[in-house]
Amino acid sequence: MENILYFTVRQNLLRKKNELFEAIKEEEKKVGYYHLPFSNTQKIKVQLQHLNSEIQDIVVIGIGGSSLGAKAVYNFLKPQKSFAKRLFFLESTDPLNIQNLIKQINLEKTHFFIISKSGTTLETIALFKYFFNKCKKEQFSIISELNSPLAKVAKELNASFFEIPKNVGGRFSVLSNVGLVPLAMVGVDIDKLLLGARKIYKSFFEDGYIKDTLLKKALFYAKKHQQFHINVLFAYSESFKYFVQWYIQLWGESLGKRQKHSIFNVGLTPIGLIGPEDQHSFLQLIMEGTRDKTITFLTIKNFMQDLSIPDISFEPLKELDMLNNLSFDTLINLQSQSIKEALLMQEDIPVDEIILENVDEESIGKLIFYYELLTSLVGYLIDVNTYNQPGVELGKKILKEKLKDCK
Ligand code: PA5
Repeated sequence: MENILYFTVRQNLLRKKNELFEAIKEEEKKVGYYHLPFSNTQKIKVQLQHLNSEIQDIVVIGIGGSSLGAKAVYNFLKPQKSFAKRLFFLESTDPLNIQNLIKQINLEKTHFFIISKSGTTLETIALFKYFFNKCKKEQFSIISELNSPLAKVAKELNASFFEIPKNVGGRFSVLSNVGLVPLAMVGVDIDKLLLGARKIYKSFFEDGYIKDTLLKKALFYAKKHQQFHINVLFAYSESFKYFVQWYIQLWGESLGKRQKHSIFNVGLTPIGLIGPEDQHSFLQLIMEGTRDKTITFLTIKNFMQDLSIPDISFEPLKELDMLNNLSFDTLINLQSQSIKEALLMQEDIPVDEIILENVDEESIGKLIFYYELLTSLVGYLIDVNTYNQPGVELGKKILKEKLKDCK
């Protein structure tokens, strides 16, 4: 994975890099997600062997950090790999969505992973109850924090249980059992996923190539967060569709907060775009709109396939014959390069590019850990508690009151 920054960081900011690095080294000792790339996956594999071999479909019931990470990885790899089982994600209480899922799965041959760190998330529990009523109890595994109410249900049902460590926050939990268990169940190589994350960990903490880039980028984002308060991730492949959703949750829920040492509210707003289609919707706003956005291009070097455009000519379309014999991977990469160059010509839009080597587990593992580190660095610099989300509590409280009134 490469990350090329096309903006410069002023000299006095560079002097801050050491200070920032030391602060994150301190944080690394306490915050659980930093250590996930070093997990031993043997226990997961052994435990999964005991599940019914007839299972065809896997459904993850969870929301936010309890589903988005695995969804991002699975959907990134899906066009490239053939999986032994199908994996579905059920997050929403939307009845149409529930109905739609039921139409797609073979209910008798489905296994459900009920995932919730707190073990009390309303959406997850509602969906759990619905399917519990329709299926046998052996069709359920629970992934939760030890001793959570849901963990206690697992005990009561004698269901297979996987722990979420206490010091790993929901949106930073994809490399824990939250993501690894369902992904391993369908045949994702979770060791390679962790290997990719480990490479970025080592590169950052052991003076590798990514350290300087990440520190510079975080310093730039934090220093300029009032002017460039929108961070666009422009990903050039449909297979990043759910990765950008994961990024939106990670960035938004981690960085939009009241500062720890002031009475001010701060935040960086994530936007996820998919190229080339969003060139035909959002690009105009980036190119000529207010200068309040940074743009990160996310591209794939090797798409690992060889589809190309046939040598067909239509007289009225003669001027597009330059497309003939061109491979689609060359085309999409030329498209992202052209948009990148056009933005760089504006001179007042901060641009960088992340290039993933391949469509495989190692590459997506690297990308995940890169973004987790970047979030931690920026969170530290803008003085927020990156790992909590007090802002979502009030709405939940109001809903609970409303539910009581419904009775
Ligand atoms: O990042 C977070 O902590 C949240 O987005 C949670 O993942 C989300 O609210 C779901 O919570 P839980 O896993 O407790 O069901």
